[in-house]
Amino acid sequence: MAKVFVTRALPGDALERLRAEHDVTVWEEALPPAPESLRKAVADVEGLLCLLTERIDAQLLDAAPHLRAIANFAVGTDNIDLALTRARRIPVGVTPDVLTEATADLAFALLLAAARRLPEAAAAAKAGEWRTWEPAGWLGADVQGATLGIVGFGRIGRATAGRAEGFGMTVRSTADTDLETLLAESDFVSLHCPLTDKTHHLIDAAALNRMKPTAILVNTARGGVVDQSALIEALHTGTIAAAAIDVTDPEPPPPGDPIFDTPNLLVVPHIGSATRTARARMTELSVENLLAGLAGRPMPHPAP
Ligand code: GLV
Repeated sequence: MAKVFVTRALPGDALERLRAEHDVTVWEEALPPAPESLRKAVADVEGLLCLLTERIDAQLLDAAPHLRAIANFAVGTDNIDLALTRARRIPVGVTPDVLTEATADLAFALLLAAARRLPEAAAAAKAGEWRTWEPAGWLGADVQGATLGIVGFGRIGRATAGRAEGFGMTVRSTADTDLETLLAESDFVSLHCPLTDKTHHLIDAAALNRMKPTAILVNTARGGVVDQSALIEALHTGTIAAAAIDVTDPEPPPPGDPIFDTPNLLVVPHIGSATRTARARMTELSVENLLAGLAGRPMPHPAP
């Protein structure tokens, strides 16, 4: 029986399977443990089930000398120094596939919401500004017949493409077109690449300048893929028409962040995988990864 630390209460009942085999402590607070608390909590653990809110870096690993398996409750791994975990031979598991459809749904919901200006229209209705049926009121962008450029054509990018085809869009992606052309020729751009050194600020001021002034940007990947100051500037100056984002940099944005005062910008709080089924399955996969890692077996869903 190994000591295991889980950095938050998780949906579903799969943690019971972990408890049946190991000595499990769960951080029961709503907010994540501060780095110092996390370092204390992992001092004697062999297994760690963590979230994307935790940074798994040298300091954390140094504080956890007995750690021999990490399960990340996410498909992304940008919160983990994978070079270091590899060097220390600590296997890391992730939760692919089970959140693909939920995240693609959210990407498409954001795309439609921005195209049809749902947040402004809903706010206006609530504010008593729905005076009559207005022939020229709340005009938005057409989706059918528009071109969607997908940056990052992995599982979630492809699932988003499937939805776009159902809506009669032309789909192009970085799998078949270079980024510059994709940005210049798309009516909507949806980001689905992982955050790495190569993709950090991939969408910067120059990239935004390449986009059409009528274009709408959707980001359900990671906030760091976009230079957020450049995006805010681009929305203020009308370089692009609108953006709808599930991810920011940092997360959450601090109080008073200009992101909440930017026109034509819809922000939701990193809810891409937030369906009951997806989150319960993420718990299951995390538990399967940790059980395998602690038993010395290959994790079924290892980090790439
Ligand atoms: C969520 O953003 C994930 O990486 O699973």
